[in-house]
Amino acid sequence: MAHWNKFDMNITVLTRGLKGIVIFSIVLIVGFSIFHPIIVVKRKEILIAYFNKFIWKSEAPSEQMSFSYVTTDAVSYNSTVEPAPVACLPNSSFNVLTADLRPIYKDFMMYRHCRDFPLLLKASSCRERDTFLLLAVKSLAENADRRASVRSTWGQERTVAGARIRRVFLLGMTESRIRSQAVQAMVEHESEEHGDIVQWGFRESFFNVTLKETLFWKWFSEDCRAVPFVLKGDDDVFVNVENVVEYLKDFNPANDLYVGDVFRNWYPTRVAQSKYFIPLFLYGNEPYPPYAGGGGYLLSGASIQKLYNVSKTEELFPIDDAFVGICAQRAKIEVTSHAGFRTYGNIPYDPCIYKELMLVHRVTPNELWLIWSLLKDANKMPCSRFTKI
Ligand SMILES: *[C@@H]1O[C@H](CO)[C@@H](O)[C@H](O)[C@H]1NC(C)=O
Ligand SMILES: *[C@@H]1O[C@H](CO)[C@@H](O)[C@H](O)[C@H]1NC(C)=O
Ligand SMILES: *[C@@H]1O[C@H](CO)[C@@H](O)[C@H](O)[C@H]1NC(C)=O
Repeated sequence: MAHWNKFDMNITVLTRGLKGIVIFSIVLIVGFSIFHPIIVVKRKEILIAYFNKFIWKSEAPSEQMSFSYVTTDAVSYNSTVEPAPVACLPNSSFNVLTADLRPIYKDFMMYRHCRDFPLLLKASSCRERDTFLLLAVKSLAENADRRASVRSTWGQERTVAGARIRRVFLLGMTESRIRSQAVQAMVEHESEEHGDIVQWGFRESFFNVTLKETLFWKWFSEDCRAVPFVLKGDDDVFVNVENVVEYLKDFNPANDLYVGDVFRNWYPTRVAQSKYFIPLFLYGNEPYPPYAGGGGYLLSGASIQKLYNVSKTEELFPIDDAFVGICAQRAKIEVTSHAGFRTYGNIPYDPCIYKELMLVHRVTPNELWLIWSLLKDANKMPCSRFTKI
């Protein structure tokens, strides 16, 4: 017994000693890394870099956006960023008109004429000549989770019934005042990894979504003119790509195509508190031309080129989907309603229902996964031909 006790005690002394050494080493390493002069200098550089960026972001949003990030060895940002073009000066002649409105209206009017923004990141998706359908998904820089779930579910680049599907995400610069540099670094990393990001150097905001639309049309008309069809959607939609391809196979891509959940005879909102409020000076008392709900709709490449052409001489309008309708009317493009586009309302999780649809709006990344896996099962199980909603 005594022998065992002594042995136990030796073990205890030994482990205590070891623990002591480990703790001592940790203290030494941490202390070294905090107080070592070289590391202190490096940390200071990083802090200054962030500080500069923060100050620039919060105090001086200059007219001419500056993209010369302060770079240190530790935090190295991609130099894919182009220099900003000639500054677009704000037009203050709308100050009186917008005096009683929320600041975003003044901002919109002051910068409405600024439409030329540098392309910061470019997707490789349109280099391939064989693309049948381009999935163009509006996203915000910070929505990396939504992009990840789109990439691995309906947005997969694949061949569906012989048709090549490709994908791009359309981004501006993040609006968030903090950590914008970190978000930008993440987006650039994503772009390198997936090659599916198109980003322009304008500040993302609710009223700048129309600007994104026209910049997309421009980019498409220059880089993707050979692509026959485009599905334009938000990053919170589910798309049944199989059904979309099936539908498109009957169309001649040289013709016009503008299909979705169509709004006819809708009037601008005059409730000042509404997010969608449109003052009289922006749109008169007539209804909007018919337009497809912005959650998602289909366009032919030929139609996009026409839309781009007329948009050059059309003042930007803050509601992006209504703006598409305004341009379509001018370009004499008919909008067609299709019951498979559900940009409103709750859809129950019945795989047999999703099997029949083309697009559903307002879906979280988790729901996307769920629908995606349910649909796989639905392809195996027989659905009643009468399952409709
Ligand atoms: C500002 O906008 C007004 C109204 O559209 C226009 O008449 C004027 O020429 C603009 N001024 C500048 C400097 O662009
Ligand atoms: C749109 O983006 C431009 C460029 O970044 C910016 O100057 C303007 O304030 C933004 N407009 C709105 C309404 O946020
Ligand atoms: C572009 O639009 C202009 C009018 O804004 C029109 O005269 C011209 O024919 C259009 N071009 C194409 C290729 O649609």
